[in-house]
Amino acid sequence: MSATGQARQLMPADILARKGGAPIVCLTAYTTPMAAMMDAHVDLVLVGDSVGMVLHGLPSTVGVTMDMMILHGQAVARGLKQALMVIDMPFGSYEESPEQAFRNAARLMRETGAGAVKLEGGQHMAETIAFLVKRGIPVMAHVGLTPQSVNTLGGYKVQGRGADGERLMADAKAVAAAGAFSVVLEKVPQGLADRVTAEVAIPTVGIGASAGCDGQVLVVDDMLGLFTAFKPKFVKRFGTLGEQAEAAIAAYAAEVRARTFPAPEHVFADEVKK
Ligand code: KIV
Repeated sequence: MSATGQARQLMPADILARKGGAPIVCLTAYTTPMAAMMDAHVDLVLVGDSVGMVLHGLPSTVGVTMDMMILHGQAVARGLKQALMVIDMPFGSYEESPEQAFRNAARLMRETGAGAVKLEGGQHMAETIAFLVKRGIPVMAHVGLTPQSVNTLGGYKVQGRGADGERLMADAKAVAAAGAFSVVLEKVPQGLADRVTAEVAIPTVGIGASAGCDGQVLVVDDMLGLFTAFKPKFVKRFGTLGEQAEAAIAAYAAEVRARTFPAPEHVFADEVKK
């Protein structure tokens, strides 16, 4: 039994059953050690396509490929015993048709061991979500700011303000009706996020939304202070690991240049003492 009281790996149905209950704790992970570190503390680990920006230096998530997701998904799976692993479908792997989405979702689950996939989009993706769910693929939906559409959205702007709120509400209802087991609400106004949470039957997982959502997700490198290129308003840094890492690297460089590293305790004698 772990810190979160689970004896087995969580399944999408367990997350669905948490609607209106104890908050669902989610983080992204891309590597085995990070996944292992968070496994006992979170309910859901997302192998996010944010990996492209966070670890690979891409300017957006648009350049992320199936092969990248599979490599990182396999690494994360090796670190998890308890949390549900959800893997992002990358841009271009599901939008064309429900059949294309099924082929790529099945490959992601088969080759990584993920328990579910996540894809971006509301009403226009409802048919695809229903197609996947009917064929055994649990889907986490993602509405509001959908970063894969940054080029048509015109930037990473708050979504659903004013009259646009009704469209966002319709998106959340459509993915729930299609059978998604939860929905990420990204960068939507607090009052709207609370209304969606109250009116939609599946758990809402907020990022830049509201503390009233059924759960929260953050990019792990953001909340640890490891990714420092920029900080969205909705990120709280719970650590400053980036600063600590740079200070440690600078200390190492200084000791190498001063020939104080390696010290006697780090080197090997020519003869082994008898
Ligand atoms: O890719 C990602 O990390 C995400 C989360 C921010 C929800 O989609």
